[in-house]
Amino acid sequence: MASIIEMRSELDDLLRQAESELTAAASLDALTQCKVAYLGKKGALTKVLRGMGSLSAVERPQLGAHANFVKSQLQEWLDAREVVLAKLASTARIEAERIDVTLPGTQARGGAMHPVTHGMAEMAQIFTHLGFSIAEGPEIEDEAHNFDALNIPPEHPARAMHDTFFVREPASATPHLLRTHTSPVQIRTMKRFLAEGNQPPLAVVAPGRVYRCDHDMTHSPMFHQVEVFRVDRKVSMAELKGVLHCFLSTYFGHAVPIRLRPSYFPFTEPSAEVDIGCVLCSGKGCRVCKQTGWLEVLGSGMIHPNVLRSVGIDPEEYSGFAFGLGVERLVMLKYGIPDLRLFFDNDVRFLHKLAQGRGDQ
Ligand code: DAH
Repeated sequence: MASIIEMRSELDDLLRQAESELTAAASLDALTQCKVAYLGKKGALTKVLRGMGSLSAVERPQLGAHANFVKSQLQEWLDAREVVLAKLASTARIEAERIDVTLPGTQARGGAMHPVTHGMAEMAQIFTHLGFSIAEGPEIEDEAHNFDALNIPPEHPARAMHDTFFVREPASATPHLLRTHTSPVQIRTMKRFLAEGNQPPLAVVAPGRVYRCDHDMTHSPMFHQVEVFRVDRKVSMAELKGVLHCFLSTYFGHAVPIRLRPSYFPFTEPSAEVDIGCVLCSGKGCRVCKQTGWLEVLGSGMIHPNVLRSVGIDPEEYSGFAFGLGVERLVMLKYGIPDLRLFFDNDVRFLHKLAQGRGDQ
């Protein structure tokens, strides 16, 4: 059985050993393990104290006092080491989580307007600057406005040429369709204008979506048109040509030559197709203008007396001009876009490139 002297020296050995171990513990985990090894229920200190039973009543409190000293010394070293290790751990974590606030951020990209929307607004604005008012009409139209009032009666071949999307409806209802052009806005606007008690002059620009059952490389089933018309006393073909020249030159940013070729539309008489000098080769002849030096850009004419009559305007007193243009085509020509399908692919790189070219952002 161990004597008090042996037990004391056991405690002193323990203390010495613990000092080097505790002060060298490399992590908080290792320190906890040391704590358990020395101070735990099955630890080294308990093991020594278990032998106390063999000591005399005088010796026991003496060893007890020494054991308490050893215990508090151990605790002191543990606490001190814990403070050091906790600090090291937090420094290491801060270092690991360090972020360089001077690095440039990822830039958020703003939206870009679609070139068709942008082009249509650009065109409408040229006309508002000339004193035209903006009007809109429904995309779901009836045959009366899309055809009849525009001098296209039911058996007229132009109906078949329009590749119309019809809306399925009960047989009793008036047939509706997706408007095939913006010309019905002429009818609706003139009717509303007169119903509000006005008399010409009237000058209107009507941008919007139109639909045709047609889908290939150069046709989309949905596309955009801008319709322009003016009604007054003595509106002439010369005025039409002047407005066209002003519009096209402003839109392209330089004076473009134009020519009017006789044509046919049911809602105008006389009618003319309008060509501009090719903006890509300046009229010299290229692939886009098929070596002719000219590009067909829109249809126009003097509003047919039957159209004026259909809304209640007397064609003996008033005359008007009208024209309608395809937005996609004019945007393609101005911005050098080679393929109609680019407008409908929704490739954001295409939209951004164009927006940058326009200087939007
Ligand atoms: N509505 C015609 C079309 O879609 C375009 C057009 C031609 C409009 C002549 C007009 C016009 O106002 O006078 O093909």
